[in-house]
Amino acid sequence: MEPVIPDLRDVPRAAAYAQLLDMQQLLLEGSGDPISAMATTSALLHHAFGHLWTGFYRVVEPGKLLRVGPYQGSLGCLDITFGRGVCGSAAAEGRTVVVPDVHAFPGHITCDPRSRSEIVVPVFDAQGALLAVLDIDSAVPDAFGDADRAGLEALVAWFAGTAYVPVLS
Ligand code: SME
Repeated sequence: MEPVIPDLRDVPRAAAYAQLLDMQQLLLEGSGDPISAMATTSALLHHAFGHLWTGFYRVVEPGKLLRVGPYQGSLGCLDITFGRGVCGSAAAEGRTVVVPDVHAFPGHITCDPRSRSEIVVPVFDAQGALLAVLDIDSAVPDAFGDADRAGLEALVAWFAGTAYVPVLS
């Protein structure tokens, strides 16, 4: 049986991310599959913090196109071009983007009108190539700060620490 995801909404963020990092390592031990890791990481973050939307957009055309991957929450749009919206900006620039007020971000893509703030973190593979972005949307204004940036960057470091070796049998 898998462990129950703890409610970490009232836990200081740094301690909360440390707990999730431990859970992620345990749950993904022995796995080299990035899609499994995206699904597991989305579920951990989404339920621990009660976000609106938590998930990954995968690079399907390097430098050009992101496509939705594993996520939790309300429906997300399918495709986002590099440079468009918060996800596309983070992908194009290869850096974490924190948006305290989505209404003040030019070109923000509204998938859920309840979204007020968001953070998007680039995900790199072991070769340093952009694999995806991790997008988290919150109904709370200004929900993300430095502790979130650090904690999420630590969680997506998993994708750089392992090579994808398909099991063919
Ligand atoms: N908020 C994103 C779009 C994706 S969804 O919200 C799930 C953006 O502007 O990049």
